[in-house]
Amino acid sequence: MGNLNTTSSAQVVLPENRSYHVRFDSISSLPFHLAELGVNFDHCLIVTDTNVGDLYQATLVRKLEGAGASVHSFRLPAGESSKSPELLALIYDFALSKGISRITPIIALGGGVVGDIAGFAAATLLRGLPLIHVPTSLVAQVDSSIGGKTGYNHSAGKNLIGAFYQPLLVLSDADTLVTLPDREWTSGMAEAIKHSLIYDDRFFSWIEDNLDAILRREASVVASFVAQAASIKCNVVSKDEKESGLRMILNFGHTFGHALERSLGYGNITHGEAVAIGMRAALFLSSTRDVHEIDRIELGRIDRVLSSIPVPDIPESVSIDALCASMNTDKKRTTASLRFVLLRRLGQAYTTIDVPNEHVRAAWQTALDR
Ligand SMILES: NC(=O)c1ccc[n+]([C@@H]2O[C@H](COP(=O)([O-])OP(=O)(O)OC[C@H]3O[C@@H](n4cnc5c(N)ncnc54)[C@H](O)[C@@H]3O)[C@@H](O)[C@H]2O)c1
Repeated sequence: MGNLNTTSSAQVVLPENRSYHVRFDSISSLPFHLAELGVNFDHCLIVTDTNVGDLYQATLVRKLEGAGASVHSFRLPAGESSKSPELLALIYDFALSKGISRITPIIALGGGVVGDIAGFAAATLLRGLPLIHVPTSLVAQVDSSIGGKTGYNHSAGKNLIGAFYQPLLVLSDADTLVTLPDREWTSGMAEAIKHSLIYDDRFFSWIEDNLDAILRREASVVASFVAQAASIKCNVVSKDEKESGLRMILNFGHTFGHALERSLGYGNITHGEAVAIGMRAALFLSSTRDVHEIDRIELGRIDRVLSSIPVPDIPESVSIDALCASMNTDKKRTTASLRFVLLRRLGQAYTTIDVPNEHVRAAWQTALDR
């Protein structure tokens, strides 16, 4: 894959007329893209959060109203705690108080938190409203807005309640990433790097070549970085919408990462940081396999790129025993054993359940430098 600066869209291709585009364009162009799709937006709802609302809601409302729409906006408190049944109920109350009908689009303007909960509200209100994602975080632009996973958290764990519900459109404006806090940027980088590792060695080489510019968020690389990473997610989802096979490779680093998030407490480490550490562990496991083709040179190259993601220190009080125990509560567990996504080589991932416990422990030790 070459430099994709000129790419204006990617597509998720699905049966039953459910295909949709990810448009890489300004948020101001939303009315144009809705009209092009034939979406009736005379009356629409924006769901956003307090941070993103302050920055981008007024522009979006002005553009939609300028095109004749009547717009109602609802703001969630920023942060993971808004993916809750209580906030979902508030979205329902707000939407129903505004006289929505089954053609009223819900526009999710924000990061993955807004996208997940607003997406679930869209999936369930009146048995399904048109859903439009306008992702503004890097995680949301390369990952969460694409593929139709919606939902919220339960006290028993993250993302335990949800539905697959595809949007009609994803409008991804890389210019909004300028205001993203540094930590959210590098967290999103982890997910984009993951896409390259599991699916596209040429994209990985491009990341290597442009790593410093990506870290500095130089305008010359940001749009291309987002477009390439988002395109990979589109391709994977197009081949396996409901995660019955190929889509599982998107969980590379996640079996370890989820255990870290649970053990440290959500909010003490971002999802992307946990995945960055998890990928180091998964790489170690990949190199222990009899069938592995991944060589030292590739491992060294990947290590260099992953090392560019700042991660918090994991205190010794979080023991490897505790992390292993936490892995066993992972909801992606099969009935018999844990499923791991490993790399056969750069750009090629596979899943396996056949991993000895001592290798898992050694992988944690390597990833945590213990
Ligand atoms: N549905 C999926 O397939 C999928 C995939 C990955 C992650 N997720 C979910 O996504 C969530 C994480 O997403 P996230 O990292 O975007 O978190 P987030 O939505 O909490 O956003 C991170 C922070 O950045 C702020 N922000 C977002 N865009 C901004 C901008 N342009 N300028 C300034 N601030 C901005 C937000 O207000 C928030 O404080 C998790 O709940 C995770 O479970 C879902």
